[in-house]
Amino acid sequence: MPSPVQTPQAFPTRIFSGIQPSGGLTLGNYLGALQRFVEKQDEGIETIYCLVDMHAITTWQDPAKLRHATREAAAGFIAAGIDPARSILFNQSQVTAHVELGWIFNCVARMGWMSRMTQFKDKAGKNSENVSLGLYAYPALMAADIMAYKATHVPVGEDQKQHLELCRDIAIKFNNDYGVNFFPIVEPVIEGAATRVMSLRDGTNKMSKSDPSDQSRINLTDDADTIAKKIRKAKSDADALPDTLDGLKDRPEARNLVNIFAALANLSPTQVITQYAGAQFGTFKPALADLAVEKLSPITSEMTRLMKDPAEIDRILGAGAARADAIARPIVDQVYDIIGMIRSRQV
Ligand code: TYM
Repeated sequence: MPSPVQTPQAFPTRIFSGIQPSGGLTLGNYLGALQRFVEKQDEGIETIYCLVDMHAITTWQDPAKLRHATREAAAGFIAAGIDPARSILFNQSQVTAHVELGWIFNCVARMGWMSRMTQFKDKAGKNSENVSLGLYAYPALMAADIMAYKATHVPVGEDQKQHLELCRDIAIKFNNDYGVNFFPIVEPVIEGAATRVMSLRDGTNKMSKSDPSDQSRINLTDDADTIAKKIRKAKSDADALPDTLDGLKDRPEARNLVNIFAALANLSPTQVITQYAGAQFGTFKPALADLAVEKLSPITSEMTRLMKDPAEIDRILGAGAARADAIARPIVDQVYDIIGMIRSRQV
């Protein structure tokens, strides 16, 4: 059960989260993030969701593919249950407050903090001299995404936890440096049975849209046959499922499939293991494939339908951006006043 959202201080509860349109959405994005986004919206909380195209270009993107991926991700959000009337849904580059505050946060964040970001180390690998400056600065822009709305809660998968800790550090330092209580200290919302969905080929690696093997992931655009095939071929082991989760300790692939089942069925992993104790993968995988197809196929078909009208998707993103800007603009203008910028231009 998701824990009820509580606001830590005198800031109204507001949810913000984002997904990079740097490829298609995966089952990891869906179970770790998108499902939570819909839940929070349906709890009646103010929810702001962003396709972070400015983050996507920290690694080079083909312009036509980026536009397509942004629309497709928007279609995925709507197909999964995000209602653009109840949530604000937009793409980041249409609201300039993000990059403006991002620069200010570049001047608040410390080099030492940025250098500790494990995702940068993973992505840059041995090539760190050659990656973009944007990739290094990216977590400060992420903090700006959240703080431009004074958001209090951010639903994400496990891999974003460190970035949210950095966001807290930046907000605390800004408040201290300028003697204000301006930014809230954000709470990560990392919930559900699948906060870290692993690759279908290697249970020790995260499922990711950037993995070169398409077999390693389920894409929200995969058709029913492809989903079923990928699950049937997913790496597992020769043992039957145990009767407790402890029995899955050294079986990362088996644990991953149980977690995916649990998240798709809205059960806890313990409930799944109780139901399938003693079952071989020959039984469990087809059951998981059926469940995945049942849950994901309606989303895929709705995405396909929505993608037939890209102008309507662009209209939704534009309307969302106008609503987002109305919240973020005054916040960022106040930041300029706080830090001592002269604001005399007539508009
Ligand atoms: P991104 O685009 O890599 O992923 C989007 C969301 O999906 C979650 N996720 C996963 N969850 C479980 N298992 C997986 N295998 C998996 N893969 C991805 C991520 O945790 C994330 O919640 N920096 C962010 C985007 C961002 C953002 C923000 C998020 C930019 N600004 C402000 C929150 C708030 C990113 O690259 O996510």
